[in-house]
Amino acid sequence: MAKYNIALCIFLLSLLYITHGKRKSNEFDVLIFTQVWPLTACFVWKESSEKHSCSLPKRDEWTIHGIWPTRYNTLGPEFCNKSLPFNPSVLAPLESQLKENWKDVHNGSNPYSFWGHEWNKHGTCAVVIKELNNEYNYFQEGLKLLDMYNMMDVLAKANILPGQKYMVEDMLEGIQGVLNKRGQIMCVHNEKTGELYVNEIRICFDKALQLVDCDGIREFPTNCDRSKQITYPSSVPHDNRVVQI
Ligand SMILES: *[C@@H]1O[C@H](CO)[C@@H](O)[C@H](O)[C@H]1NC(C)=O
Ligand SMILES: *[C@@H]1O[C@H](CO)[C@@H](O)[C@H](O)[C@H]1NC(C)=O
Repeated sequence: MAKYNIALCIFLLSLLYITHGKRKSNEFDVLIFTQVWPLTACFVWKESSEKHSCSLPKRDEWTIHGIWPTRYNTLGPEFCNKSLPFNPSVLAPLESQLKENWKDVHNGSNPYSFWGHEWNKHGTCAVVIKELNNEYNYFQEGLKLLDMYNMMDVLAKANILPGQKYMVEDMLEGIQGVLNKRGQIMCVHNEKTGELYVNEIRICFDKALQLVDCDGIREFPTNCDRSKQITYPSSVPHDNRVVQI
């Protein structure tokens, strides 16, 4: 009988642990604001299929990937509230800006599917922050952060320009020198040539939307190979496929 009581006890404790864990699972430490370099994102998209084409912003500029509530050393929380479904019509007043600055480079896909994905996966977790408390505000805040922390400008102030190669350490230091906070740089790897391209730059905010160091987020400060130069491309890399006849 004691054995069953112990088993029951363990069962109840684990149930408590699960429900307790669930209640807390939407908590996070920082907001990651991720900007993407569309020319690299286009390279990645084209590499994944010969059939893929890109739609790029009108000017060469960094665009928004998303604002991601994040716990240290891990990903997520994600998909926090299914009762907050994505409503495209809410974004009508922002649409022309989003189409340029929160661009889906995947030509042919409906841009709402990218925005809907960011909202469902990240926005529904960010709603506990006053400035991000609904869909409209989430996207508007993204545009505002891009305006304030545009990586084209930040990098240019550190003399880091498209068309050049850099050691990732120098880029990280450049960002820190300009913003006075540490960010994160993510690369993609060209498997055929071994080249590395800058793909994303992430900066971090606390829950009061003050810029903070990104120390502690997953893969901080970079996933790039620190022993090699990385390219900040000024055109889509290897965008010159030879058609074999
Ligand atoms: C999800 O959103 C709904 C609608 O705003 C709200 O009533 C509910 O409390 C939210 N649930 C959680 C777990 O935050
Ligand atoms: C985008 O895709 C459509 C077909 O879905 C195609 O007609 C168009 O040329 C593509 N645009 C670019 C810039 O490649």
